[in-house]
Amino acid sequence: MSEVTFKILRYDPKTDKKPHVEQFKVPTKSGMTVLDGLYYIQEHLDGSLAFRSSCRAGVCGSCAMHINGTYRLACETQISALNSATIKVRPMAHLPVMKDLFVDMDPFWEKFKHIKPYLIPGDEPAEKERLQTTDERAHLDRIIDCILCGACFASCTVNNYDEEYLGPAALLKAQRFFSDSRDAAIEERMDLVDGEHGVWRCHTIFNCQEVCPKEIDITGSIAVLKRNMVANRWSPSLKKQ
Ligand code: SF4
Ligand code: FES
Repeated sequence: MSEVTFKILRYDPKTDKKPHVEQFKVPTKSGMTVLDGLYYIQEHLDGSLAFRSSCRAGVCGSCAMHINGTYRLACETQISALNSATIKVRPMAHLPVMKDLFVDMDPFWEKFKHIKPYLIPGDEPAEKERLQTTDERAHLDRIIDCILCGACFASCTVNNYDEEYLGPAALLKAQRFFSDSRDAAIEERMDLVDGEHGVWRCHTIFNCQEVCPKEIDITGSIAVLKRNMVANRWSPSLKKQ
């Protein structure tokens, strides 16, 4: 394939009454990603196209967007892998569009901040570092790979009808600290994710897990968080995980 057509949902809230689709013909070459295509458009066809990116290597989480039917990182998605002459791109859902594919991540960060995404130890600072056993560290495997791209947040069906829902990434992070042997804020953390907009609102739909570019078991981790809360609050016979 030597050329593809990008169909991009564009919207500038300052000047447009509603979003509209614009098309761009983009020449392709081996190894070219969707992000490369967006840069081509910006550099050669329309310099006003807005999108976010940074590392171009699947690390920073900046370039998540809806590409040909699902959420993906534009920098990790090769055009050839989509096997289509048309590349349809639109911004992430559940976040205000600032311009075109560039969304305001503040609602995502507010929920993330709410769960206190940092270690809260119960004792004085260690002289050098807080050590963990290999088994204790193993509880954090995979769960710490989150790059905060927001794809799970955008794909979550519950966010469609509950704007206050904490969402998958924040709940995943809550479970990450709940699982950490060095953290002592279990009661406080349970309060932060309890309630009608918290962990119980997850309906185990698995949308988040399907789109996660790091293949994290998000839905499973939220289920473990629920189980841990039940074990700690109402049924101590359940073992903490
Ligand atoms: S859990 Fe996955 S999809 Fe969600 S923010 Fe982290 S990396 Fe992105
Ligand atoms: S630009 Fe950093 S993850 Fe895509």
